[in-house]
Amino acid sequence: MRYPFLWNAPKQDYTQWPGFSPNGDDLLGLARNLGEVYGEFAVFEPTKERFGINYLNNNSAYFDGLRKLEGLIKQIGPPEWPWPVDTKLAEQGKAIYNRPTAQNGCSDCHGIRRGEVRLFTDQTWATPRIDVGTDTREWDILKWQARTGVFKDAPIIPSFPLRFFGDTGNALELLTTSVLGSILQNSFPPAATAMETQAKQLERFQALHNLTGGFHLPGQPSPSSKQAAPTKKNVFEARVLEGIWAAAPYLHNGSVPTLYDLLLPADRRPKAFKIGPAYDKVKVGLAIEQTKFDYTLNTTDCSDRNSGNSRCGHEYGTQLPPDEKKALLEYLKKL
Ligand code: HEC
Repeated sequence: MRYPFLWNAPKQDYTQWPGFSPNGDDLLGLARNLGEVYGEFAVFEPTKERFGINYLNNNSAYFDGLRKLEGLIKQIGPPEWPWPVDTKLAEQGKAIYNRPTAQNGCSDCHGIRRGEVRLFTDQTWATPRIDVGTDTREWDILKWQARTGVFKDAPIIPSFPLRFFGDTGNALELLTTSVLGSILQNSFPPAATAMETQAKQLERFQALHNLTGGFHLPGQPSPSSKQAAPTKKNVFEARVLEGIWAAAPYLHNGSVPTLYDLLLPADRRPKAFKIGPAYDKVKVGLAIEQTKFDYTLNTTDCSDRNSGNSRCGHEYGTQLPPDEKKALLEYLKKL
């Protein structure tokens, strides 16, 4: 899996490649950032206490810093293509980009449209979640089970209606519970709410958060009927492509080195390529020759869509004639 680009992170309607995480207000932003910290490097040693789980025991996450970071991300914006662009050609490319999907266009899925209303002050961009035939491995990983430890018998956050962990639990539900439980405890410390059980606090938190769209996991019914949860298998999010030139290699699993290659059918995309900083301005993405690291990524074709490195799927625009592909590439540089 590859890191998605940062500059759109606060604006997306949903986040994480499979699009299971609603996004777009400050609370959801904090949950996203805390999830990353727990997932990557935080010290997090929750204990079982009389009032429920103590999520903040020996916890190295710095909530105020994460809030501040989110404010800074909002200011980044997409990077600008630093080299000359053929403006006339790019204009032609724009017209192709804006065609309907049936005519090899892109904007039906990647265009800027308003996402769901969470807070009226926060406007998100729609991130449709669609199965476009790409690698399926990440969906398997979402189903991983883990021993629950201190979380045994604790409420799963979010769950509607409330469910409880057994001896083992879904790893993603453990992470989500850890994140939301910590935010909850950080906002309503148990000392201040000594009479309240955590289940009661959870109810309050969910009521509060229903205002802003609520959380739900893949396969769970959505808390608000307006929301379409991605219950379909193997969907990934179609992001707004601003700054896409700087985000190679492409697709959620980073299996395609350049935008030029993405506009080729899967069987003609590179079977292997090197990862590194050397850039190809013509093909828009990773250069063939890389010297910084000695790592070659081997991709699989559509006969193995579950390898984690399959270059299969997303064949939009692959049927365009060469001159139209060239124009489209020129426009993609300017996004
Ligand atoms: C029917 C919807 C749909 C259409 C039409 C479509 N895309 Fe996509 N696109 C997606 C989805 C879904 C993904 C995410 C797939 C994945 O990562 O596995 C995606 C991913 C991408 C990515 C990779 C993004 C990244 O960060 O790696 C690029 C680039 C892209 N599309 C370009 C285009 C272009 C150019 C067109 C038009 C020729 C186009 N798309 C048409 C749905 C669509």
